[in-house]
Amino acid sequence: MNVRGHSGSGPHGAPESASQLSPEAQARLRALRSMGLDDDDFAADEGERDDLLDVPGGVRLQKVLASAGVGSRRHCEELIGAGRVEVDGQTVRRFGARVDPEHQVIKVDGKRIPSRQDIVYLAFNKPRGVLTAMSDDRGRKTIVDFLGDRCGTGAERLFHIGRLDYDTEGLLLLTNDGELAHRLAHPSYEVAKTYWAQVPGPVPRDLGRRLQAGVELDDGVAVADKFRVLEQSGNRAMVEITLHEGRKHIVRRMLAEVGHPVSRLLRTTVGPVKLGGLPPGATRELTTKEIGELYAAVGM
Ligand code: URA
Repeated sequence: MNVRGHSGSGPHGAPESASQLSPEAQARLRALRSMGLDDDDFAADEGERDDLLDVPGGVRLQKVLASAGVGSRRHCEELIGAGRVEVDGQTVRRFGARVDPEHQVIKVDGKRIPSRQDIVYLAFNKPRGVLTAMSDDRGRKTIVDFLGDRCGTGAERLFHIGRLDYDTEGLLLLTNDGELAHRLAHPSYEVAKTYWAQVPGPVPRDLGRRLQAGVELDDGVAVADKFRVLEQSGNRAMVEITLHEGRKHIVRRMLAEVGHPVSRLLRTTVGPVKLGGLPPGATRELTTKEIGELYAAVGM
């Protein structure tokens, strides 16, 4: 089972205490727990009925939520009771609802959760000198050297979302969720990405303004969303630039165009996902919260 990482309080905010539930829901929850029942056939109270049809042979909603990393079963029952869970657009307050996690869209607090167990979402810290490709006819290292069978050949068949240059290090996302990958790579959904770049200094005060106003490149204007100098010493500077652009070598080309060619480049964020302290060459699973935010960013 692919249980995703989550904080103890669950990724969708602080845990609801049972006292925040309606009195009926609290009573039902108490009965459920004291009887040690698996919530089977618990009829919804009047006013808590919904039109969602139970999927024959489906999985209990709270089990799907817990498996997706939303929190403990108990926490998930509380979320359901509090009306914070939707299945295919419909709020479901019944603890026993049976759903199809493969095909139904399940949301907590309006954010979709990754309910399919066969879908994987990874953050990878690509080291410098590694090709974002499955193979290289020149024998250079590729991401397959780090991800092995998970990438391209294994049962999971993960693929990378976008690319980093051979010499760029940092955050690369991988998944076997074709729809999400397709949307994230599509220009109409470009999510913001942040980079740290080492450039020759000193950096003039107006550089950020110039980059945010737009830089003319061979294939059109490129615009930075944000820019700041992180560090300057002597003739070197470390700058941070955020942009929605996905064009090839875009950061290197923009900074070269304004007279500050990049000598080192690191991607630190992709949309809601941060590289954090992930060591070079290492991977981690995305959290349920990160996946929900990625879905939201591309309208899924
Ligand atoms: N911009 C670049 O110039 N290189 C990368 O790898 C990513 C963005």
